[in-house]
Amino acid sequence: MTVRNLLSVLCLAAATAIPGLAQTSKANAAPDLKSMPWGNASLSPDQRADLVLKQLTLDEKIQLVHGIGWGPLREGDPVPADNNGGAGQVLGIPRLGIPSIQQADSAVGSRMAATQSRYATLLPSVLGAAASWDPDAAHLYGDVIGRELRAQGFNQSIGGGVDLARDPRNGRLFEYPGEDPVLAGTTVGHLIMGVQQNKIMGDIKHYAFNDQETGRTVVDVHLSHKAAHESDLLAFEIGINLGHPASVMCSYNKYEGDWTCENDWLLNHVLKDQWKFPGFVVSDWEATHSTVKAAKAGLDMQMPGEEYFGAPLKQAVQSGQVPQARLDDMVHRILRSLFASGNVDHPSTPRFVVDPFKGRDDAQHIAEESIVLLKNANNILPLSPSVRSIAVIGAHADVGIMSGGGSAQVDAPGGDAVHPGQPTAWGREVYFPSAPLKYIREHAPSAKVDFNDGTDPAAAAAFAKSADVAVVFADQYMSEGADSPTLSLPHHQDALIEAVSKANPRTVVVLITGNPVSMPWVDHVPGIMEAWYPGIAGGQSIADLLFGAVNPSGKLPITFPKSEADLPHAEIFGLARPKSDAGLPEHWVEQDKKVSFPADYNEGARFGYKWFDSEHKEPLFPFGHGLSYTTFAYSNLNADASSRTVTFTVCNTGGRAGTEIAEVYIQLPSAANENFRRLVAWKRVPLNPSESREVSLEVNSLFVSVWDDAADNWKLLPGDYTVSVGSSSRNLPLTTKATAQ
Ligand code: BGC
Repeated sequence: MTVRNLLSVLCLAAATAIPGLAQTSKANAAPDLKSMPWGNASLSPDQRADLVLKQLTLDEKIQLVHGIGWGPLREGDPVPADNNGGAGQVLGIPRLGIPSIQQADSAVGSRMAATQSRYATLLPSVLGAAASWDPDAAHLYGDVIGRELRAQGFNQSIGGGVDLARDPRNGRLFEYPGEDPVLAGTTVGHLIMGVQQNKIMGDIKHYAFNDQETGRTVVDVHLSHKAAHESDLLAFEIGINLGHPASVMCSYNKYEGDWTCENDWLLNHVLKDQWKFPGFVVSDWEATHSTVKAAKAGLDMQMPGEEYFGAPLKQAVQSGQVPQARLDDMVHRILRSLFASGNVDHPSTPRFVVDPFKGRDDAQHIAEESIVLLKNANNILPLSPSVRSIAVIGAHADVGIMSGGGSAQVDAPGGDAVHPGQPTAWGREVYFPSAPLKYIREHAPSAKVDFNDGTDPAAAAAFAKSADVAVVFADQYMSEGADSPTLSLPHHQDALIEAVSKANPRTVVVLITGNPVSMPWVDHVPGIMEAWYPGIAGGQSIADLLFGAVNPSGKLPITFPKSEADLPHAEIFGLARPKSDAGLPEHWVEQDKKVSFPADYNEGARFGYKWFDSEHKEPLFPFGHGLSYTTFAYSNLNADASSRTVTFTVCNTGGRAGTEIAEVYIQLPSAANENFRRLVAWKRVPLNPSESREVSLEVNSLFVSVWDDAADNWKLLPGDYTVSVGSSSRNLPLTTKATAQ
């Protein structure tokens, strides 16, 4: 925001009898709320919002539908006295006890803590949380975010990313819960519940089809309404139904020719009419493109800036171009969300120091459930504590663990562990001080455990040659604003792994990546673990799994393809466009905004495992795959169509206690025209050796419905449903049929 813009926000505040900026620092104090009619907490949030609405001047209404942002991000810009240092702020109405909305980016933990000398817990990737297939872990994930935001004086999280992994090269996949709409929507819905239980307004984003970063502000997505409902939108629908987020953030891209932030079909028709979403739609940062069109299409809040929803909106309301009732609806949605979140009755103020120990424990628990054991030939894992020598190689495993970047970047305690003291900067790798080397040493106190940085493959191979086992760490930095052009690991790490595994066949690879990567060395390496970005306790979690102190239980929430050629689109849309400025992410280049290009999602809802299954392609590792140090067997499948219940038995057939994620897939009757199965249910089943458990799961009818274009609604088809159960999308030992009338 420019100084000019900010000053006019301040003038607006003064003109509307808010007693000046000095007092906005008290905006959260809720003066005499109890004496005001809307202070009656027994009224519904909607009733309370309406009572406030009646008191508001036109200027105050306009003030509530836009805000300021980037604040401390853009050096030199002044900020209001009560600005809490987040990505956005909407000034409150102190005279009516309405607090400012203080918004914080918080995809994987609260962002920008360092600018206020705060601490924030770095959680594992959201993709990792999805890999736990554990709604309780997702809930805990949100709880960590919510309680830390609350302690820091924020009242809105603008995390909750649920864009599906149509393309495994998407730069923000670590912020999103994978490729399956049901798993992704369920994960993010529970995450939002965890956030909101802390009296923090939750959010779900980026609505919709922001499925690649390349040209994200100009790409125009084409996808049929039916396919949209059955894929990307379904993830949002599930997440919203479960989590009831205060807001939905519309995205940068276009859908069928219209920016999503002024897309009547997406905002008014689907979100508000069909899904009955009662909260507000906030634009992604600078994703608002108009006043009248956006307001009428269903956008409720421009963030940040006033270009469209400041004075121009006031004029549009005065001239009747935007009905007064529409402005009132925008304001009502914002106020009712503030009331529903508990923020008016219990305003957030920065009063507490977050508990870093609890945050770390919670992050570790989630990491332990999320790390996926991909391969374990000859039971090379778990490592024995009596191993004599371990060669630890690569990825700065001697000092820390990589994190994801962009607006999801959490500040590392002490700065970047690789460059101590170096503050966070956009697009620069940040390592957190959780060094795997240290924890590996703790597990094998009498072993010789040495480190080689892996930059010279030949030297690393010589270093690894005589060790009992080599553990190679390989990482991949991903950040908002750019995709990975390929599936390959960067920085010649494939060559490193090849060289080390040739020198020492007892090689284990630990991947710390934002995305699936290809593995040309897969057949030469007996052990492979995917740790995603594992968060503040990542080093310890990885070591605990390597040595079997924790038995791996995570499963892939995303397909690992062998190569780009197997994907629906071998190249990312727009990747080949000439760049006008090589130094910046291309979407930042102003002139790019004029150059739109299409992304034809002609694969429809058929991506990820649905694509690989229907195209009969062999993935590198399938969706739902993940090994344990014990084994499981499945038996006794029964499926009852009338109660939509699937029952089966899982038995631990190995020698260790472990948790199996049992997965249920259904292929719809032939009238659905789907040549793939859908994931419809799952359960984490903890089992001691030889223990069996009967599992009974009810299948949500939405997950087996098809979108009926003519009725513009979901429908259930009669006919034969093929029900399959097992340990991954490609390992389904039990199958039966259930016939629905
Ligand atoms: C991102 C959003 C983020 C916002 C505010 C945008 O660039 O796409 O996810 O919440 O910035 O930082």
